[in-house]
Amino acid sequence: MEKTLSIVKPDGTRKNIIGEVIKRFEQRGLRITALKMLRLSQDEAKLFYIIHREKPFYESLTSFMSEGPIVVMVIEGEHAITMVREIMGATNPKEAAQGTIRSDFATSVEHNIVHGSDSKESAAYEIPFFFSSLDIF
Ligand code: RTP
Ligand code: MG
Repeated sequence: MEKTLSIVKPDGTRKNIIGEVIKRFEQRGLRITALKMLRLSQDEAKLFYIIHREKPFYESLTSFMSEGPIVVMVIEGEHAITMVREIMGATNPKEAAQGTIRSDFATSVEHNIVHGSDSKESAAYEIPFFFSSLDIF
């Protein structure tokens, strides 16, 4: 069993599709083992996305990620990291496969509704960023 971190980003909570996102994960047999809603400060978003600190979109991404509430969750299942990335679709909604969350709901490469850890290493940084081991069922 593998664990990954997913986030319904501020555009997702604004569009009222928290349940839709969670449903798509659950329908594929993944389990939500921790869940909460919160709002990040921009400094916290910068720490979360520290891997992108050199990228031209770092300021804009972290400003977007702190503009409203987000829903963060730990998802568990076989190949959970890859499965969540598949269900999300490509970063750019124009390139996302049909039927993926980003293809169906994202409006731009930045406002793309959902986050998912991209590797075991990222998951190992991102899960404890939001949850203590006692929070995860
Ligand atoms: P995420 O980390 O949020 O799951 O998304 P990802 O792996 O598909 O994409 P990544 O390359 O890690 O980029 C992180 C987030 O930054 C925003 N972004 N903006 N303006 C741009 O060219 C650009 N590129 C990326 C997106 O919100 C992306 O999800
Ligand atoms: Mg990423």
